[in-house]
Amino acid sequence: MKRVLLFILPILIIVAAAFVVFGTLQVRSEEQKLMEELKRKAKAVAESIDLSAKYILLHNDLKGAQALVEKFQARERLQGCVLYDNAGEIFAITERFADWREKEKPYIRDILAEKTPHGELENFKEYSVYAYAVPIFDNGDSILGVVEVIYDTSFVFATLTELWERINVTLIILVFCILIIAFFIQRQIFVLPVQRLTEWFTHFQKGETDEMHSIKGKDELGKLADEVEQVALNLRVARRAISEEASERIKKEDIWTEAKLRDLIRAKLGDNALFVVSNREPYMHVMDESTGKPKCIRPASGVVTAINPILYACGGVWVAHGSGNADRKFTNSRNKLGVPPEDNRYILKRVWLDKEEEEGYYYGFANEGLWPLCHITHTRPVFRETDWQMYKKVNQKFADGILEELPKKSPLIFIQDYHFTLLGKMIKDKRPDATIALFWHIPWPNSEVFSICPYQQEILDGMLACDLIGFHVQYHCNNFLDTANRLLECRIDTEKSSVIRSGKETFIRPFPISIDGQFSGNASNALAGYMDAIRKEYDLEDKIVAVSVERIDYTKGISERILAIDRFLEKYPQYKNKFLFIQLAAPSRTHIKRYHDLMGEIDELVEKTNWKYTDGVWKPIIYLKKHFSADEIKPYYALGDLCIVSSLHDGMNLVAKEYIAAKSDLTGALILSRFTGASRELTDAVLINPYAIEEFAEGIKFAIEMPAEEKKRRMRNMRNIIHENNVYRWAANIITELTALKKV
Ligand code: G6P
Repeated sequence: MKRVLLFILPILIIVAAAFVVFGTLQVRSEEQKLMEELKRKAKAVAESIDLSAKYILLHNDLKGAQALVEKFQARERLQGCVLYDNAGEIFAITERFADWREKEKPYIRDILAEKTPHGELENFKEYSVYAYAVPIFDNGDSILGVVEVIYDTSFVFATLTELWERINVTLIILVFCILIIAFFIQRQIFVLPVQRLTEWFTHFQKGETDEMHSIKGKDELGKLADEVEQVALNLRVARRAISEEASERIKKEDIWTEAKLRDLIRAKLGDNALFVVSNREPYMHVMDESTGKPKCIRPASGVVTAINPILYACGGVWVAHGSGNADRKFTNSRNKLGVPPEDNRYILKRVWLDKEEEEGYYYGFANEGLWPLCHITHTRPVFRETDWQMYKKVNQKFADGILEELPKKSPLIFIQDYHFTLLGKMIKDKRPDATIALFWHIPWPNSEVFSICPYQQEILDGMLACDLIGFHVQYHCNNFLDTANRLLECRIDTEKSSVIRSGKETFIRPFPISIDGQFSGNASNALAGYMDAIRKEYDLEDKIVAVSVERIDYTKGISERILAIDRFLEKYPQYKNKFLFIQLAAPSRTHIKRYHDLMGEIDELVEKTNWKYTDGVWKPIIYLKKHFSADEIKPYYALGDLCIVSSLHDGMNLVAKEYIAAKSDLTGALILSRFTGASRELTDAVLINPYAIEEFAEGIKFAIEMPAEEKKRRMRNMRNIIHENNVYRWAANIITELTALKKV
């Protein structure tokens, strides 16, 4: 509409201006005409009663005079007649003009003196009148008196007002006609062709370049579409060639690398982009409180750590919740942006949630319900109906956000985690041709535990709409198969490891997630500089340094870790002053009471333990509570003689793998909870039960005192595992399985 107005407004202004000018001219000429007519009429009437007036004045005939002036009383319009004697005194006057007597009439004196007629516009009461007076002569040159006729002029103004009204009505009708015609013309000339072109581009974007949607035409838009079609064709041909080369290269290489995964995706996906969905976004724009300017951070999240290198390597679209307080400033009109911001490798589409949605879906159902349900850490799950409703609403919102991005032909969608159990079904309902994988980044509990969830049926149904569901370890796959078997009407094919429900088969597979695992060799100068700075700041020289890195979460066993350190120092006091533990802890989900309380508990425990052992300068625990970027964490890993991962329950735990990747000099030892997925692969870690504080404390001592050669041996083994089973292999396995299931 704005554009229509922009187009029409100048025309309307010109038409209106023309009307005002011509209208004014016409009204003026009409006014002149009417006034002239009035004056002529007044003159003629005054002259026509000249004789009668002469007779009346000669004979001083008051009766006759009265009869003469009263003739005017009967007329329709306001009119009057006045007879003056030769002294200028009123002799007779039409009754309705009785008040005319009071009026000052200097012109009467002038007429008597100059013996000439006089006409003038006068005000009488609320009227404007025209008065025309002529002298009456006797038979010679002597003046007998004056006769004056008075005409109301208001009909002139009434006629002019009417004329203006007619002009205005004509103008309005004309404007209206112009609006309709202009709207129609601009629709034909601009809107419809642009609409066609936009539609055409939308189909083109989605890969629907078949005949049905092509723009044929000799006009400019047709030519533009033709050009784009040519580019698309070239692109397709080039992609096909790349994809064949890629298949060849994959066969030759053993270790999965960024480049090899890129080749695989090109070979398997061809023209299609990979669509990833997660709650947490990989790049988040937040206001930096110290500078007051927005900055881009990488959130602390295992999902982000794992998926980012994949999309970085292969491109695609990542749909996630835009949760940064400056996120909106950096997205385009379709809520998208290229990331990483400095080197756009893939598209991030942000989905906006209001406070109520975030509260119910994220804090409520996902993190107070499903998170504690799946992590067996004795924190009671809370299921509220309102949260569930919001969870469904937000899943639908994400489904809509993804559906509008999907290409026409068999899209591949990769959903992350417990935030989106219903998403697969919502997408499949609209796009049965989509091939969907869901990866569950946290543990899956046994069926008894899962069965307490009031929404178990809908959740399982939502998940089983996917073609492939991945867990980190076989144990979680078994738990899931058993859950489906017990809680749903379905068939389990144990050989194929699949669930068949209502004719739909979903494959359940373990895919142990990992990290990049491309080791860069020796530490860079910058890293060495950061390490020195940290050494100085915390007086780490000659100290045995243990590090832990995580979000503050009750599943991570942070309190148990501090208790174990306390026990270790209690049992082995020779390590006082020699041992130092650095905890990097990112505050997380702090609106949830359990998380809020946990922060308090840890603060208190750190304080108590430090107080117990401090000797004035040395204290055993350095607790750094803030968000650390990946680059900020690296020097701590490099400095750590030990890394302690003591999760009470964890799907995989990528910190353990990151620490190993950082130890290029093969020093250091990993203390790892048996209840992490990582413990299945990293069997050379010092495995502990975080609940068994005594065993845990012994584990710390064991790791510290482990001979350097043994440390090297274990580190080398674990590095080999991570190097081979890196995140590219993980993604390659999932994509290979998924594309094998792809609908054609
Ligand atoms: C776990 C979940 C992720 C989540 C991460 C951080 O790793 O599996 O999905 O992103 O925790 O939690 P947050 O709630 O901050 O995203």
